[in-house]
Amino acid sequence: MVKVAVLGAAGGIGQPLSLLLKANPLVTELALFDIVNTPGVAADLSHINTPAKVTGYIGDEQLGDALKGAHVVVIPAGVPRKPGMTRDDLFNINAGIVKNLATGAAKHCPKAFVAVISNPVNSTVPIVAEVFKQHGVFDPKRIFGVTTLDIVRAATFVSEITGADVASTNVPVIGGHSGATILPILSSLSHSFTDAQRDALVQRIQYGGDEVVKAKNGAGSATLSMAYAGARFVSALLDASVLKKAGVKECTYIKTDVAAADGVEYFSTVVELGVDGVAVAHPLPSFSEHEKKLYAAAIAELKVNIQKGIDFVAKSAAL
Ligand code: APR
Repeated sequence: MVKVAVLGAAGGIGQPLSLLLKANPLVTELALFDIVNTPGVAADLSHINTPAKVTGYIGDEQLGDALKGAHVVVIPAGVPRKPGMTRDDLFNINAGIVKNLATGAAKHCPKAFVAVISNPVNSTVPIVAEVFKQHGVFDPKRIFGVTTLDIVRAATFVSEITGADVASTNVPVIGGHSGATILPILSSLSHSFTDAQRDALVQRIQYGGDEVVKAKNGAGSATLSMAYAGARFVSALLDASVLKKAGVKECTYIKTDVAAADGVEYFSTVVELGVDGVAVAHPLPSFSEHEKKLYAAAIAELKVNIQKGIDFVAKSAAL
């Protein structure tokens, strides 16, 4: 039995993500949890002739049933920013949602892989980790921030410049999952870019999400491409843990010591996945002079983001 639970399954990301997971033949049970609309989404998806049995769960009292026995938990739950809301307001709401869902996962499926999509990922992953620590079930190999959209975007944008086949273009993107914390390693490619091309590419990869927000006229952010990226990451987890495929690699944001020397304990890096989650976390690559500067900027911002997540859990525990 391979049960995947999607928390926030009725949302802009959650629905297409659930569709893609329903199309994954390795999934035998798909649990769709949200505070609204999951019975409808589940009924709709349940007519698709793939193996996964789909069930909708709605409201906090059904969270435990949605999570029980889950092999993978994916979390795209959150709220969009509304007029009058500050970034801090938004952070506090999403952080509270993630903390509540993580508490459910720590209680009902402590051994599941947890893939966090809810933003800000740089802070929400430490929130999940702190909650799991409080419950005595934290395993850093099993909790992931999904940064796959950065890798997907980087491959697309780079291949537009190089003309190389997009499907065989692989650009490692490490660091974090927002703005200046996103660190594409363009120096690892055989193509040599001009400084202007390089700067434009880095900027586009770091702020690609803004193109979508602008094109949607403020009505939302990336949902379809994020759902694709989330489904690709879950598929990699299942290939490694269910099919026991060797050599499954993805970049993902985890608790790791790869950048500990520079004072951060969470970092996205290339990870080899195995039956228990992270089998090997690759060390930092060798940086170009330009990437060294980007790395320093990423570290400075990551420190603040990580601390914000840790403080959120500590503060709410003290209340
Ligand atoms: N438990 C479960 N689901 C919740 C909760 C909760 N406590 N609170 C809100 N949700 C659900 C909403 O009901 C909605 O269906 O999360 C879903 C979010 O969907 P959208 O508002 O459409 O947002 P979306 O664009 O999908 O983004 C979700 O992902 O990338 C991040 O920044 C983004 O944090 C945001 C999240």
